[in-house]
Amino acid sequence: MIRFTILLFASLLFSTTAFPTAPGDTHIAIETQHTALVIRVDKDGDPTVVHLGKRLRNAGDYGLLPENSKRGEDYTRIYNSAYTPAGGRNLLEPALQVAHADGNPSSDLRYVRHETKNVADGVVLTTVYLKDPQYPFEVSLHYKAYQKEDVIEQWSSIRHTEKKAVRLQKYASANLYIPAQKYYLTHFHGDWAKEMNPEEIQLTAGLKVLDTKLGTRADLFQPPSFLLALNQPAEEETGEVIAGTLAWSGNYKIEFEVDPLRNLRLLAGINPYASEYTLAPGKEFVTPAFLFTYSGAGKGQASRNLHRWARKHRIPQGEGNRLTLLNNWEATYFDFNEEKLTALFKDGKKLGVDLFLLDDGWFANKYPRNDDHTGLGDWQENKQKLPHGLGYLVKEAESAGIKFGIWLEPEMVSPKSELYEKHPDWVIKLPNRAEYYFRNQLVLDLSNPKVQDFVYGVVDGILAKNPTLGYIKWDCNAVIYNAYSATNPNQSHLYVDYVQGLYKVLEQLRAKYPTLPLMLCSGGGGRVDYGALKYFTEFWPSDNTDGLERIFIQWNYSYFYPSIATCNHITDWGKQPIKFRTDVAMMGKMGYDIVVSKLDEKELAFSQDALKTYSRVKDVIWQGDLFRLVSPQTSDMASLMYVSEKQDRAIWFNYLVGNRYREGSQAPIRLKGLDPARKYTIQELNVFPGTNSPINRNQTVYSGDYLMTVGFNPQVDARRASVVLEVTESK
Ligand code: GLA
Repeated sequence: MIRFTILLFASLLFSTTAFPTAPGDTHIAIETQHTALVIRVDKDGDPTVVHLGKRLRNAGDYGLLPENSKRGEDYTRIYNSAYTPAGGRNLLEPALQVAHADGNPSSDLRYVRHETKNVADGVVLTTVYLKDPQYPFEVSLHYKAYQKEDVIEQWSSIRHTEKKAVRLQKYASANLYIPAQKYYLTHFHGDWAKEMNPEEIQLTAGLKVLDTKLGTRADLFQPPSFLLALNQPAEEETGEVIAGTLAWSGNYKIEFEVDPLRNLRLLAGINPYASEYTLAPGKEFVTPAFLFTYSGAGKGQASRNLHRWARKHRIPQGEGNRLTLLNNWEATYFDFNEEKLTALFKDGKKLGVDLFLLDDGWFANKYPRNDDHTGLGDWQENKQKLPHGLGYLVKEAESAGIKFGIWLEPEMVSPKSELYEKHPDWVIKLPNRAEYYFRNQLVLDLSNPKVQDFVYGVVDGILAKNPTLGYIKWDCNAVIYNAYSATNPNQSHLYVDYVQGLYKVLEQLRAKYPTLPLMLCSGGGGRVDYGALKYFTEFWPSDNTDGLERIFIQWNYSYFYPSIATCNHITDWGKQPIKFRTDVAMMGKMGYDIVVSKLDEKELAFSQDALKTYSRVKDVIWQGDLFRLVSPQTSDMASLMYVSEKQDRAIWFNYLVGNRYREGSQAPIRLKGLDPARKYTIQELNVFPGTNSPINRNQTVYSGDYLMTVGFNPQVDARRASVVLEVTESK
């Protein structure tokens, strides 16, 4: 529960009008089970962050926290502001920059009151109301504290009643202050098919910025997620680590500023780049949420916190089921017809998946979608390929015994499409510049309500016509070039309005179709964030499905996202044997994109068995706690395990990722997350037909204590390049 420490003037706390004017400070403690963010309001009403980290046993001790945890002078007394206003006495990076209706470019934010309420079981919302003493201009800071998961979701809202509009030039979601001796930032970068490469740096004085200006497919080069380790580089199970991410599917900016006192200021929010927002009197601007968790026990705990939070509080059906699927993208690309597809349904059934997913290429007639140059926007079945329409395919799949789903890219338009011909003003492009394409296509202007209705109508229309359609893969393959809206009266609102328009459409769709499985795809992982994952049940991390590459990509996404939401498909990208690719895909939400008829007898039998095994153990993988044991980043092996909450089952994955002579698991690997007092047996899963497991010969019963202290050797080597083990409590 959140507790307030009110040192003095308790009566002022819930006052709605005045600032605390008398001497003395108010402390607002936003607490979860293990962590606390403490805001101090001083006698002048300045709100500052005085603690972010482990929760103190006695809330009264927050009053002992010094103004600065370090010696030195803060000339402004707001280096640690809870929401730094620009233009006044501030000297550092602001959270808020505005031009008031009268042109005044400064702001000042003083505490008015705060309130707290339980908004759901285990979820406490604290709102701190701030106001500019000179203007009818208010900012509210919102902090949702998820008690059990130790996650804080923070956002701000801005409103005013000035005579005319106010121009918001910067409007951060979060402004935190973290004093430590040293700061190690792990951020992630990439591009198509090479997403999520970590890079750890020690922050030096001044600013380090993570941002994107791509508009859509915003995370192509850099996702909005980071790990911040205090005092020492991030370790898996030790040390202080903050994992943070911005829940926004557009341009974002996350700034880390080591200030003159060598404390760290963190600002996260929408990227102000080309995005000045004109706020009319009486209207409210609500920023997206910044999410973070503090762990005193390394990045492992930070990930487990985020996973639990995401499953319980964010991702639709996060604690529910997912469908295994067979996708036809790599099997056929654009080249298919009804006959080919119905044969694939039977293959899917034979393999044992739940659903067939028809990918790109099924639509458009005037400019048929036979390659990626045409047809986007014309969401009618292509009459040559699918003369009987989607309804026929749904029925055929169902009579083969599996469900049917489709690929859509509803935010996009091909220059060669009927949609473009009919509605050129719906396309984002500059009137006096040559069109420039990303994957031969353009982006629709989702800031336009008519376009929002169109996109909603496309998806709703297909679902209304095919009520048993079981799945939609929602793709987004282009960035925004030549950003300009033909209809938006404020050009600088386009980037923000686009994302809000997208969310509006998704909100409407979710209201009507609350349980429909939706895959979030963006040419791979160009859009993976918790803003979109409020609507999508799962995401596509990368088009790169090479088994070896995937170990790294999935490993790095796992810092922030739970396995139940991570779609891993077995394809022919990699040269590894099917067992290796299957073992890798099993670490998350498994699927296939292969030609089943090309599998030999053993491969087919192996895959059929693997799917059965998966359905038996998937609850541990999806709902269990993830423990990373050996990192592929620093070793020739990767090893990680999922442990059920009851600690009675675990699934343990091991892979060889290097090919140096005799590399593999040379020594036992220490397990984690088990109960030391209980006994366990270990069985190897996914044993390829015709091979033997040296592990399954052994029926030894081990204590959890032994397995976590001494360990167990999974016997990974070049001949056993992937080994999946099931650890079961022996009663
Ligand atoms: C993107 C996706 C792929 C596939 C193609 C279809 O690249 O990431 O999985 O759906 O589009 O064009």
